[in-house]
Amino acid sequence: MIKIKVNAHEKKEIINKNIYGHFSEHLGRCIYGGIWVGKDSPIPNTDGMRNDVIEALRDIKIPVLRWPGGCFADEYNWMDGIGPYEKRPTMINTHWGGVTENNHFGTHEFLQFCDLIGAKPYINGNVGSGTVREMQQWVEYMTFDGKSPMADLRRENGREEPWKVDFFGIGNESWGCGGNMLAEYYADEYRRYQTYVRNFGDNKIYKIACGPSVDDYNWTDVLMKKAGKLMDGLSLHYYTLPGDWTVKGSAVDFGEEEWFITLKKTLFMDELIVKHKEIMDRYDPEKKVGLIVDEWGSWYDTEPGENPGFLHQQNTLRDALIAGINLNIFNNHCDRVQMANIAQLVNVLQAVILTEGEKMLLTPTYHVFKMYTVHMDAQLLETEVENAEYAYNNEKIPQINVSSSIDSEGKIHISICNLNPNQEAEIDCELDGFSGKKVTGKMVSAEQVNSKNTFENPEEISITSFQNATIKEGHLIATLPAKSVVVLEVE
Ligand code: AHR
Repeated sequence: MIKIKVNAHEKKEIINKNIYGHFSEHLGRCIYGGIWVGKDSPIPNTDGMRNDVIEALRDIKIPVLRWPGGCFADEYNWMDGIGPYEKRPTMINTHWGGVTENNHFGTHEFLQFCDLIGAKPYINGNVGSGTVREMQQWVEYMTFDGKSPMADLRRENGREEPWKVDFFGIGNESWGCGGNMLAEYYADEYRRYQTYVRNFGDNKIYKIACGPSVDDYNWTDVLMKKAGKLMDGLSLHYYTLPGDWTVKGSAVDFGEEEWFITLKKTLFMDELIVKHKEIMDRYDPEKKVGLIVDEWGSWYDTEPGENPGFLHQQNTLRDALIAGINLNIFNNHCDRVQMANIAQLVNVLQAVILTEGEKMLLTPTYHVFKMYTVHMDAQLLETEVENAEYAYNNEKIPQINVSSSIDSEGKIHISICNLNPNQEAEIDCELDGFSGKKVTGKMVSAEQVNSKNTFENPEEISITSFQNATIKEGHLIATLPAKSVVVLEVE
């Protein structure tokens, strides 16, 4: 029996709903085909943007969407993506498949898309190959209300009112595809570029500095020391690969060995956040600077025959577990983690949606995001676990992974991932300081570790009702199926 204690006396920080954010890059079929089909497409659309995708995204209440990259951001000239389509210059997307980008999806389209799905925009600026002036003008174009060259140009292009731009990233992976800079050099560049990211009128921009790759603790230290006072957020990128960057592993063709190793590597996110937090705490004990995990998720080998630069991959029950575990980890670190953006929205890496022509399906990851919406802006509760172990090949990881919160209506939600693919998890959960009378639950699970949704069978995995929980004398007793993500609601 696994024991959990949810302490309702110990209400902690608010779980920033932006932890449930997403990322959309000009990469493969994320933008073109996934979001944008053009106004003349037979696929039902609103000003060129797919209606089915819009509707599905509204349903999971996406709070924030990052764009236009990724590596693409540091090659992007925003001026190429405004004005009449026929006049927009093309460019080569050198990072992602070497395809020609026609720039039909630009600033106006992205900001309209955010409006349509109800998300706040997080725009990532170009430090790698762009100038300070270009970045300054982009911000002016989007957010300045008065008369100015850029605001007038915006009006000429059909948009009278300025937009509200909430988040702005100053470079992406500046230690790699964003310019191969050293930490000290980037810290100086960050200081310079961010100076010109202006707040016009009421528009207050949350400035995000490029943070470390995975466990580059020196990068965090240098950035916090040299520029910590000039930033609102510092990013962190960590992807889960079953293998390594040469052979990442298959998205669908795997067994228990790959399941185990992938989940073990997913749990590493916790250690990473703890260690980066320790450094941030030294320079910023008041926790003014948020840790922004703006790229996370699974990364597998692309299927044979597909353009390897398109990073298209299937999504299985294993990805549902990866999502559930990461989201629990972010919830539990919500004192510092203020935003996270899974990579990427549609058709790329750990996507919540896959499309093929006019067809669309929701992945297991989508369903986990949907179940976890209950944690958005709720208050984190202290949760203690006396865990069991899941052992494979002489290695061990904890069997379950948990977070819990209390919402504004006073309902408690406990999200539990059972990592063991062979064994149920019997749970005895003490609800300390809460007289819960009723428990209901939802679940994502499947027959096989690699079960998936396909266009032929799009609902092989979906959310089902979880009935296996009762409440007795302040204790919640539940039996979770093997390999499952369960969200319980107690009221
Ligand atoms: O998400 C795919 C790529 O991964 C992004 O463009 C880049 O920032 C990261 O390396």
